[in-house]
Amino acid sequence: MSRSARGRVLLSVTGFNPHRWHELLSAEREVVLEPDRADDPSIDYAVVWKQRPGVLSKLPNLKAIFSIGAGVDHIFLDADVPDVPIVRVVAENLTQYMTEYVVWRVLDHQRQGAAYRAQQPRKVWHEPPQPPATEIAVGIMGLGQLGRAAARALLALGFRVNGWTRTPRPMGGVTGFHGGDGLGPFLAATDILVVLLPLTPATAGIVDYGLLRGLRRDNALGGAFLVNAGRGKLQKEADILRALDDGTLKEASLDVFEEEPLPPSSPLWTHPRVFVTPHAAATSDPVHLVPPMLRQMARFERGESLENVVDRDAGY
Ligand code: GLV
Repeated sequence: MSRSARGRVLLSVTGFNPHRWHELLSAEREVVLEPDRADDPSIDYAVVWKQRPGVLSKLPNLKAIFSIGAGVDHIFLDADVPDVPIVRVVAENLTQYMTEYVVWRVLDHQRQGAAYRAQQPRKVWHEPPQPPATEIAVGIMGLGQLGRAAARALLALGFRVNGWTRTPRPMGGVTGFHGGDGLGPFLAATDILVVLLPLTPATAGIVDYGLLRGLRRDNALGGAFLVNAGRGKLQKEADILRALDDGTLKEASLDVFEEEPLPPSSPLWTHPRVFVTPHAAATSDPVHLVPPMLRQMARFERGESLENVVDRDAGY
């Protein structure tokens, strides 16, 4: 089939330069950055990251929307998203990045990275207590593709792993908790909390002072830890700071923030027990993510069903 005979793709992105995405999608499809007109009938697919609001709503032949990120909350910032399937990106490369980030941060907290970084400039030779992984429980909120892969890696290192999900999601080796009733017991059994939830109206602001208060502090590490690599709006940063300052939390690793980029005025930047990365835990690399998108478009045109379709009611 010639490139022009295939469905056209609208690439609608704000906040970064989509040049590489354009180039790679263009290998198989005709790609435009704006429709020719609001009701452009030539557009079959949209590939989006925080698309321009309203740009999708009038396209009469739009068949599917592909998210550039694993999270899809950015799509719903637009109140006018047409009722066509939304496909989440699932790719080994993205999962691998996230697993690396989670393992890196968990090991750094367990192996007292912050304490050594504080000691070194003062030339202090001191070995803090070093509990092994087998004595530490990591609790993962969200056991989707990313949460499950992180759980497998942590289990392989010997950590005890708890999982909290909206509905039951059993996983071998992981102690499962779910729903509102399961949250308290999950937190009470967790030393290092890893947040990998999708952002939905039900999860916004869930990481607040009350939740952090529920974590186990009387443990081998002498405190509780937070790692958030999900979405910034899952957390209340004022509550995290309060929890760090009153001993509810010992340290935090944050990759995502209520406002991004994190404003220079945020005290998180300079807090000695906070590790900040710029929403870089699992970057969306078009070299790895465009091929599965193109494959899905081709499958769809052969009459096969789309994979990794978002449940609109659940919001992820
Ligand atoms: C990035 O945040 C993503 O959703 O993949």
